[in-house]
Amino acid sequence: MSATIRSGYFTPLLFLLVAAATAILGSYFFMLQNFSADTTLLFTRYTARVSFMFFLPVFALGALHQLYPTDLGRALMGRRRQLGLAFAAAHTVHLVGIIANYLAIDAWFSADDTAAIVIYVFIGLMAVTSNSFSVRQLKGVWRVLHKVGLYGIFIGFFVTYLGRVQGYSQSQLDPSLMDPFWVYVVLLALVTSAWLLRIAAFWQKRG
Ligand code: HEM
Repeated sequence: MSATIRSGYFTPLLFLLVAAATAILGSYFFMLQNFSADTTLLFTRYTARVSFMFFLPVFALGALHQLYPTDLGRALMGRRRQLGLAFAAAHTVHLVGIIANYLAIDAWFSADDTAAIVIYVFIGLMAVTSNSFSVRQLKGVWRVLHKVGLYGIFIGFFVTYLGRVQGYSQSQLDPSLMDPFWVYVVLLALVTSAWLLRIAAFWQKRG
């Protein structure tokens, strides 16, 4: 990828990536296997993971580019809006997985899901205001909405992966449905590193 990637090509490319990853996951779980509690659970898990890969650059790119400026970083910085929209699209697919899983296990959203639903409301608001018109109209409100939303999503990932690492040995899941421990260690390390980058960039700016 180079600094000369044109935005017009980049946006469809990102959505194509989300669509391709989802189609591969969907066809694997629902067509090659079957529509069951287990397959929908795995579909839900891996769609969250796909969306995490889009969230990481949205969350950490600004800090990384401030600390270590590169041409690639500059090129991607100009496309953070597209990356954010690709994340929103990917996380909407996670929601499809969640609903499929609830249908498969004959359950529905409950009070336990409140925090996650609030995060989804933020994702929706952030997606519909990810345009220049909204930035101009909402001014300070836009900044607060996107900062609070970004940290809300970060907390969603951080808390989930921390919980997976801490509770791994006591998990109630069938062992055949569990990923190796190291997978969760890597995911937790990635989300923690992204946070540390932001903290380092914050202190560099102040210093
Ligand atoms: C009501 C809303 C939500 C429900 C019911 C829900 C449900 C689920 C379920 C059933 C799984 C699969 C569990 C497993 O792998 O054993 C999952 C995975 C996950 N979800 Fe959600 N989720 C919701 C919203 C969110 C939000 C808003 C975030 C992040 C901002 C999130 C992040 C994750 C992560 C990080 C995983 C684990 C992926 C992995 O193992 O790599 N979820 N979720």
